[in-house]
Amino acid sequence: MILGPVQGVDCVVYVFFLIPQLLWQIDFSLLLLVLIKVIPFLVFRLPHQLLKERYFTRKQSQSPFTRNASIFQDVVVRCVRYAFANIPARVGRVFFCKWVSYPFFRFRLLRHGYLRCPMYYKEIIQPGFRGLWIVDNPDTEPDIIIYYCHGGGFSMGSSHFYMEFLMTWVTRLKESGFQNPAVFALEYTLVPDAQWPTQLNETRAGYTFLHETFGNGSAAKICVSGDSAGATLILSMLLQPGTVEQNQRAQRWHRPGLAILLSPWTHLVSDLNQNTPSDYLNKDSLELYAKQYAGDAALTDGVVSPGMSTTRWKQVSPPNGYRIVYGAEEVFSPGIQETIQRMENNGAMVKAHRRETGIHAWPVVNLFLGNTREDRLQGLDIMTEFIMSSSLASSVSADTRTRSCLATPLHVRMPSD
Ligand SMILES: *[C@@H]1O[C@H](CO)[C@@H](O)[C@H](O)[C@H]1NC(C)=O
Ligand SMILES: *[C@@H]1O[C@H](CO)[C@@H](O)[C@H](O)[C@H]1NC(C)=O
Ligand SMILES: *[C@@H]1O[C@H](CO)[C@@H](O)[C@H](O)[C@H]1NC(C)=O
Repeated sequence: MILGPVQGVDCVVYVFFLIPQLLWQIDFSLLLLVLIKVIPFLVFRLPHQLLKERYFTRKQSQSPFTRNASIFQDVVVRCVRYAFANIPARVGRVFFCKWVSYPFFRFRLLRHGYLRCPMYYKEIIQPGFRGLWIVDNPDTEPDIIIYYCHGGGFSMGSSHFYMEFLMTWVTRLKESGFQNPAVFALEYTLVPDAQWPTQLNETRAGYTFLHETFGNGSAAKICVSGDSAGATLILSMLLQPGTVEQNQRAQRWHRPGLAILLSPWTHLVSDLNQNTPSDYLNKDSLELYAKQYAGDAALTDGVVSPGMSTTRWKQVSPPNGYRIVYGAEEVFSPGIQETIQRMENNGAMVKAHRRETGIHAWPVVNLFLGNTREDRLQGLDIMTEFIMSSSLASSVSADTRTRSCLATPLHVRMPSD
């Protein structure tokens, strides 16, 4: 299941689902306040900025993102940048919540001719955690499991917002030779409903459930993954998989086979995080979210803010190591580079893919906004290749693997054998 790019009609339908939820979830007075701020932006500032920077600025002086972006990408990213800096998270959260994202996804399926979702999914609710289970065939054991934590500054986002992204990933894994790929997307409690360490406890609980249910005494076929704040939670979990007593009984902790991190928020508050002209994130809002999340816990703690950790990267590393995908243009780029350096200095195995014009979480952004099919799938294909070149793909026949890695780019469908 790989749907086409987001188009104008999708945007209209998205707004149609969004408005009732805003009215239902947010006080009318706050909405009015936000609207009074947003209208001048949409009517004056946005068109003015867009015209000035796209058409009246020399190419060399444009931001690297604008230089390479389509007009549609540029407009959406400018709106997101504005919203991230100016709209309270309480309101922003509604944009990505289940009750907007899920009907929107079903509309996109319908628009592509799917009356029913072509992939199995189910919400799992257990004491201590909840999440979304997605699997190609629910009746057989998965041969690879992605454990995914979504992004959104700990304050926004939902696993339903990532359904299309994750189902597309499952599709790519299947096309690469896995028999029955699966994803478990954790639905952790958002800030301010709860703070650290609730989210870390939930991350651990979801992971434990996965390897106890499917691992048969091992977690070698689990790949932990996530973007932004979700990638932070994954790193925090790796650095501190249990309480001190639990860690002393090391056998209680089963290391995942591989970690793939997209634009991890490595340093929650740091001078390394600097605004860039391309990215949609904003240093001040990030600091606010970080403080709301960490509460009393020190922001310099090496588990809360994994980039601060100078040791233990090798000791806690998944057997296949760490893979990091990020953009050179994102606010977190310097922090991510420092973290990679620290991992390497510790002797951990880490491979990074850095996209030169890439903004924050570009593999996710591009799937929705990319121009060409190749561009839309590029991030997911890099992530899939990371898996294919690890021991997690040892169950995949060598024949299929060679075919997908070398012979043809993944986005070209093989004629059926
Ligand atoms: C998180 O887990 C730790 C260790 O199991 C426990 O002591 C703590 O009370 C939990 N905190 C929350 C907020 O769930
Ligand atoms: C689980 O592990 C045991 C011992 O390692 C093995 O004998 C058994 O076949 C495994 N079961 C499955 C379903 O893989
Ligand atoms: C620029 O955009 C094109 C397609 O939109 C993409 O294929 C290319 O990789 C981008 N260039 C860089 C340097 O990111």
